[in-house]
Amino acid sequence: MNVLVTGGAGYIGSHTCVELLNSGYGVVVIDNLCNSNPESLNRVQELTGKSVKFYEGDVRDEALLKKIFAENEIGCVIHFAGLKAVGESVAIPWKYYDNNLNSTLVLTKVMEEVGMKNIIFSSSATVYTGDNEMPLREDSRTGHCTNPYGWTKYMTEQILSGMALADKEWGIVLLRYFNPIGAHKSGRIGEDPRGIPNNLMPYITQVAIGRREFLSVYGDDYDTPDGTGVRDYIHVVDLARGHVAAVKYVEQNKGCDVFNLGTGTGYSVLDMVKAFIKVNGVDVPYKIVDRRPGDLGMVYADPAKSAEKLGWKAEYGLEDMVQDAWKWQSQNPMGYGE
Ligand code: NAD
Ligand code: WQD
Repeated sequence: MNVLVTGGAGYIGSHTCVELLNSGYGVVVIDNLCNSNPESLNRVQELTGKSVKFYEGDVRDEALLKKIFAENEIGCVIHFAGLKAVGESVAIPWKYYDNNLNSTLVLTKVMEEVGMKNIIFSSSATVYTGDNEMPLREDSRTGHCTNPYGWTKYMTEQILSGMALADKEWGIVLLRYFNPIGAHKSGRIGEDPRGIPNNLMPYITQVAIGRREFLSVYGDDYDTPDGTGVRDYIHVVDLARGHVAAVKYVEQNKGCDVFNLGTGTGYSVLDMVKAFIKVNGVDVPYKIVDRRPGDLGMVYADPAKSAEKLGWKAEYGLEDMVQDAWKWQSQNPMGYGE
């Protein structure tokens, strides 16, 4: 069976292509390369010895989508394509709503027309409200998002679940990712953010390689064991495998289901920095600075539902995550852009 992977040249998409190909699926990718480099797909092919059919273009381009469905027998779509920078979404909200909502609307319109109604969507732990108790379960409260990016994820969940209610032929899986980090064990594919990284792990690796002077640790006065923010970091390969499990799930199950993809374990910013230094034997200078507006003290998942219904659970631990993140960065100091 062929899987159409939107945003397949990106960080999570490229790792998912590898896992799909290794599990025997054919892979067709559409990506407009607005936040990625097509070299990632060359390396996916190199790692798997299998080919990926790549269409460079925008998911909002209805004619292109129709052409892709006409030229390929697609059995499932994984919809990664979207803009993902929280701060940027506050500065240019229209662009985020346009890209993230219209891509889903155009995609599902074409899927409806061609009668292929299995879709897996990249949602985020950011849809949970900030006042929930930990760990977060799929039925914890959602909404009250603090930025347009979060709203696009929340709204897309509403759109897709409403469609599944109205038409029983849809098979929809909403995957709420926690904090994906790390890279493929080979060090050939990984996260390659443009400009200054927003997220913790790519910032750490860029400090370690000498591209940035020091890490700013955003606050040490949270109600957490060491005062710094705690998150549920998940190895990107585990996350990618969660998508393969979801593809199998939508083949068997119709309706709309939602799953957390996290490990269930929280680590603080200083846990991450210390583990990175210890495992990799490199220094990561850091300074404690003020809290980053909008951040929560502690966020981690209850992954029980994914284990029970998807038959999936994360296997890699902290050492693998920091080691693989560094292997990718040290082998590709400038990402794909060398
Ligand atoms: P990424 O930016 O590396 O990948 C997204 C890909 O989509 C990029 O290759 C980009 O070029 C492409 N794209 C964007 N808009 C497009 C459009 N309109 N048409 C075609 N291609 C388009 O990001 P990622 O980290 O791999 O994230 C993948 C998905 O997972 C996103 O939807 C993101 O919001 C979601 N997500 C990511 C995280 C995270 O921390 N990385 C956490 C939760 C959810
Ligand atoms: C992790 C921890 C920071 C950078 C974001 C999005 C979320 C999801 C994942 C897409 C926090 C601290 C960070 C730095 C730091 N993405 N930190 N110095 O904020 O949990 O989640 O990415 O859906 O929607 O909001 O991830 O990696 O930015 O931060 O101290 O330079 O590291 O305060 O405690 P976050 P993050």
